Amino acid sequence: MNILGKASTSHEKDCVYSVPLNSIAGFEFDTRVAAVFPDMIRRSVPGYASTLSMIGLLAQKILTENCHAYDLGCSLGAATLSIREHTRAQNVSIIAVDNAPAMLEQCATLLGNTQTSPTVELRCEDIRTTPIENAALVVLNFTLQFVPIADRLPLLTKIRNGMNPQSALVLSEKITHDNPSTHDLFVELHHDFKRLHGYSTLEIAQKRSALENILIPESLDSHKQRLANAGFKRCEVWFQCLNFVSIIAFPE
Ligand SMILES: C[S@@+](CC[C@H](N)C(=O)[O-])C[C@H]1O[C@@H](n2cnc3c(N)ncnc32)[C@H](O)[C@@H]1O
Repeated sequence: MNILGKASTSHEKDCVYSVPLNSIAGFEFDTRVAAVFPDMIRRSVPGYASTLSMIGLLAQKILTENCHAYDLGCSLGAATLSIREHTRAQNVSIIAVDNAPAMLEQCATLLGNTQTSPTVELRCEDIRTTPIENAALVVLNFTLQFVPIADRLPLLTKIRNGMNPQSALVLSEKITHDNPSTHDLFVELHHDFKRLHGYSTLEIAQKRSALENILIPESLDSHKQRLANAGFKRCEVWFQCLNFVSIIAFPE
């Protein structure tokens, strides 16, 4: 599968957690993960392909001449590719940022020529330090969940302050549910989803353990409250499947 979930031979099947491990190290976006990432995320995140398609359609609608689009935590550039494919406005720059060198290296290969319109600037840095300016679209597609909770409000406030009036933020996250029965049901169904896509019980358990304290999900209400605290005036859930949600937030 390629980065947008279409057939290709350039990436491998995810077997990272398929053999029993004596001790499970914390999850890292390293060379092994980068090599299998399109397969891993497609088989792990319900609705991932839909969020990418919708980001492209939104880009087509919302990007205006001479503006910036940001893909924060871009991984292999799936959202960047979708934005690039759909952008009609002239002189748009996409700024794609990730702090994992192995991911950004693969991203550069997949993007190919970054100088065709819209141009793509790849930045290997922490999104907490990335200046946000003249932004018509900002995408955090399953990235904020990896940022320490204490840093999430300052990051969203900085993003909000760099956004143009008629712009949008896409925030996709794994979430928790306050009702324990709903929470447990959705976690179990998510594991069933992964089994359906070929992951074994061992793989599911080992990856879950590796992500403990690294991917920190919060409730939908917490995200909505934080977006309001950061200065976003409106936000809507535009996609949800089980414990995976995508929110669109507007500064005005
Ligand atoms: C689940 S992946 C995001 C998937 C990607 N947005 C997509 O749509 O395919 C999370 C990415 O965020 C990056 N990341 C996490 N924390 C980061 C930070 N503080 N600064 C930059 N990148 C970060 C990771 O390296 C990883 O590539």
